[in-house]
Amino acid sequence: MTTTSNTQERFIPALSYHVLTPLYDPITQTLLREETWKLRLIAEATLQKGEQVLDLGCGTGTLTLMLKQQHPETTVVGLDADPEVLARAHKKLARAHLEVTLTQGRATDLPYLNTSFDCVVSSLLFHHLNEGQTRRTAREVIRVLRPGGRLLVADWGKADTFLMRLAFFPIQLLDGFATTQKNVEGALPSLFLDAGFEEVETIEVFHTLFGTLSLYQARKKS
Ligand SMILES: C[S@@+](CC[C@H](N)C(=O)[O-])C[C@H]1O[C@@H](n2cnc3c(N)ncnc32)[C@H](O)[C@@H]1O
Repeated sequence: MTTTSNTQERFIPALSYHVLTPLYDPITQTLLREETWKLRLIAEATLQKGEQVLDLGCGTGTLTLMLKQQHPETTVVGLDADPEVLARAHKKLARAHLEVTLTQGRATDLPYLNTSFDCVVSSLLFHHLNEGQTRRTAREVIRVLRPGGRLLVADWGKADTFLMRLAFFPIQLLDGFATTQKNVEGALPSLFLDAGFEEVETIEVFHTLFGTLSLYQARKKS
């Protein structure tokens, strides 16, 4: 495993405050049904032998690890802005003896060459980005994907019941109203379309204790 760095604008940490980071894994494992929808996201990625896959906003590396476990014949790369979560991810992957490259960087300014990846997956990153950052990130993902490459995203989506809308309120209090507004509006698919993706679809919607979690897919034009 390697860790490289570049530093730019501020970012929102995994649970908004660095002091809460140790609670991130226990909360996502127990309260968010993390394994269920992360496995579904990986299945939808339809990864093939030899492909290059980026886990964007990889955090503590749970999805990164699952990707490499499910598809050991792919090259998996994780990127996150926060060196603290990357250190946790590093330990988790080392314990599992999995070979993955972890990079510190910003989703809005990816430190990769054009057309480097066959697939980009991302879970729970986009509600940490405001609309402008989301647009820049979507454009960056298009830049680093090969023609026809896939984007798979799991993030908070538009609530389909009043209870789900209410359940999302604590996440908005924690991570901010400015960054989560587009999620409340269910605007991620249209932002991906605006960036130039095609075949943008909602794959599945999960009801969780903290609201509606949506899985999206999109494809870069061939
Ligand atoms: C809620 S956590 C999700 C972590 C992981 N993907 C998961 O599903 O458990 C959001 C992550 O996005 C990272 N992040 C926030 N803004 C970022 C940015 N601009 N660029 C890269 N990572 C960012 C945070 O450091 C944090 O680790």
